[in-house]
Amino acid sequence: MNPAPSSTLPGDAADSHVEIEPSILYFGTPVVLLTTENPDGSFNLAPISSAWALDRTVVLGIGQEGQTARNLADRPDVVINLPGPSQWREVERLSPLTGRNPVPPTKPDGCRFEPDKFAAAGLTGEPSHLVRPPRVAGCPIQLEARAERVRLDLSGEFVIAEAVVRKVHAEPGIVVPGTDYVDPAAWSPLIYNFRHYFGLGPELGHSYRSQTAGSGLPAA
Ligand SMILES: Cc1cc2nc3c(=O)[nH]c(=O)nc-3n(C[C@H](O)[C@H](O)[C@H](O)COP(=O)(O)O)c2cc1C
Repeated sequence: MNPAPSSTLPGDAADSHVEIEPSILYFGTPVVLLTTENPDGSFNLAPISSAWALDRTVVLGIGQEGQTARNLADRPDVVINLPGPSQWREVERLSPLTGRNPVPPTKPDGCRFEPDKFAAAGLTGEPSHLVRPPRVAGCPIQLEARAERVRLDLSGEFVIAEAVVRKVHAEPGIVVPGTDYVDPAAWSPLIYNFRHYFGLGPELGHSYRSQTAGSGLPAA
């Protein structure tokens, strides 16, 4: 085994990074708006940035004290709505709201109960096809899904839900005409980047697996 190069030793003056202890690690992921069904048959709406897709399954990380986690454990239907960058203000209006009453003490200061989050955010619902919770009108991508597995994470503070997508709705303007492909040049997610909202910058390139390449990019 070769000795480690001196530049990788801890505390080495050549290290180009500093060690930090950030309070959060939200390093820039898309925002989704989850619609779920409350016990009384009304619907809850919550922004989540801990979401990613594995084939047809979307893995969601959700605070266990909130209403969304409770709803998913008891009524697994969910719509995963993807807002665009222009909808960041509506998303942010939801930030201090919970569908849980009374508000759990573990929620951040300023959090309040709101039974009608659609109205509070200035958003409207539209019927889903296969699940009971509505889709969020104006979100360019809407995924009807069912949380097939909902369990506590290691810390016990979060629920990890594995939601299997059953139907995908897309605004026509983001779909490559005549295909089932989302046009990456037309679709931009809303990115939550260390608690600040961003859209995407200009395209840099594409994966070798892209099936929508050839849109004027130089060959790599
Ligand atoms: C942009 C954004 C991203 C968020 N991401 C998450 C997340 O990934 N997981 C989570 O549990 N809460 C997240 N939150 C906080 C929840 O939206 C918040 O706890 C809300 O009160 C949950 O609502 P509920 O209690 O009605 O389920 C996020 C909030 C915002 C504004």
